Amino acid sequence: MKYDFDKVIDREGTLSYKWDARDINFPENPQALPFWIADMDFPCPEPIAEAVRKRAAHPIYGYSKVADDARTLAAVWQKKRNHWDARPEWIEFTNGIVPALSSMVAAFTEPGDGVIIQPPVYYPFSEAVVNNGRKVINNNLLYDGERWNINFEELEYLAEEPSNKLLLLCHPLNPVSRVLSEEELRRIADICLKNNVILAVDEIHSDLVYRHCRFYSMAALSKEVEQICVVASAPSKTFNIAGLQMSAIFIPNEKLRRKFQKETEKRVLYIANLFGATAFEAAYSDPECEEYLEQLIDYLWENYRFLDTYLKEHMPKIKCQKPDATYLLWLDFRELGLGDAELEAFCLKEAGVAFDAGKWFGGDGEGFMRINIGCPRSILEQGLGRLKEAYQKRGF
Ligand SMILES: Cc1ncc(COP(=O)(O)O)c(C=O)c1O
Repeated sequence: MKYDFDKVIDREGTLSYKWDARDINFPENPQALPFWIADMDFPCPEPIAEAVRKRAAHPIYGYSKVADDARTLAAVWQKKRNHWDARPEWIEFTNGIVPALSSMVAAFTEPGDGVIIQPPVYYPFSEAVVNNGRKVINNNLLYDGERWNINFEELEYLAEEPSNKLLLLCHPLNPVSRVLSEEELRRIADICLKNNVILAVDEIHSDLVYRHCRFYSMAALSKEVEQICVVASAPSKTFNIAGLQMSAIFIPNEKLRRKFQKETEKRVLYIANLFGATAFEAAYSDPECEEYLEQLIDYLWENYRFLDTYLKEHMPKIKCQKPDATYLLWLDFRELGLGDAELEAFCLKEAGVAFDAGKWFGGDGEGFMRINIGCPRSILEQGLGRLKEAYQKRGF
C-alpha cells in the first residue's frame, strides 16, 4: 500500500498532547504551530489501525495480557532489523520506556550512586536519576561544529569511579540525531566492561535511521557486551503509536532481569495496555508495517532536505545538522546572538512555532532548538514560513 504522508489530518480535539496541551506547555502562545514532543502528524500503518478498530468493537475493555507470540515477534524484529540474535525470554514488557528507565535506575543502583548520561539528552534521562535519589553524572557530548561526539576520555575517567554503576545511553542520540559507529559503540562497551558499569541503551528510535547510516545495536557487539546490556525497544516511534504505551525491554543477563522484574512488579508496570498489546502484535507481524516504515523514512528525509534548503535560502544564520536518524532535528540558532529566554520568545511569540528548547536537554544545548519534522510537508512549510517572517522582521 502506498501511504500519503502529505495528507493533513486535523488532530485538534483528539486529546493529542502535542496539539491539545499547548495551553499548558506554551501558555505564552497556545496557538503556536506545534513542532515539539516526539509524535508525528501521520496515521499509523493500516494493519495496526485495523487491529485496534477490531478489538475496540468488542465492548469489554478489561485487564489485558500481551499476545502469546509478542515476545517472539519482538525478538524476530531485532534479528531482522538490527542483526541482533535476541531471545524472546529476555523480554520484560512495560507501559512505555520512560517508566522502564526509572525502574532500571532503581533496580541497578543504590541511593546515592552515580548514573552517567550524555547531555544534551532526552530530558527524562536525568529525571529518572534524580527522582530515584541517585546522582546525575554528566558526560557531556562534544560539538565539533558539525557533529556531536562522545567524550571518551571523560567517560573513561567517570566510569572508573566505583559508585558510578550505570550508564544510560540514548542511541540513536536524541536530540542531536546521531547514530554511533560500531567502533564508537565498542569503545563505550569496553569502558563499561572494564569498570563493571551496566549499560542501559534506549534504542526507541533505532528503526528510523536514514539511508546513509547503519544502526548497530549495542548488545549485538558480543556475548560479553550482551551480558552487561539492557536494551529498551518499542514500536511506538516507528509506527506513531506512542499513546498506546507498550515497550519491550531486553535483558539477557538473568540476574539483572530478576532485579528489573522486582522493580517493575513494585511499580505495577506489567499489566498490558489492551490497545497497546493489540497494536504491538500487529506492528511486528504484518509485513505492510515494514513497507510503511520504508516509505516513512524516505518522506522524513525529504522533509529534512526541504527544511535544510529553506533555511539556506531564507534564514542562513539558522543551521541544521544533517540527521542520521529520527524526525527530531537539532537546529543551531546561535548565530542570531539571542540569549536563551529571548530565543524561546522569538520562536514561540514572534514566529508562532513551538519547538523543544535546547536547554531542556542539558549540556551545551543552549542556543539550539529541537524541531519535529514528522508532519506533512505543507505544515512544515507553514512553520518555516512563520519563522522566516519573524527572522526577516528582526533583520537578522
Ligand atoms: C529517547 C526516547 N526514549 C523514550 C521516549 C518515550 O518513550 P515512552 O513513550 O515509551 O515512555 C522518547 C520519546 O520521545 C524518546 O525520545
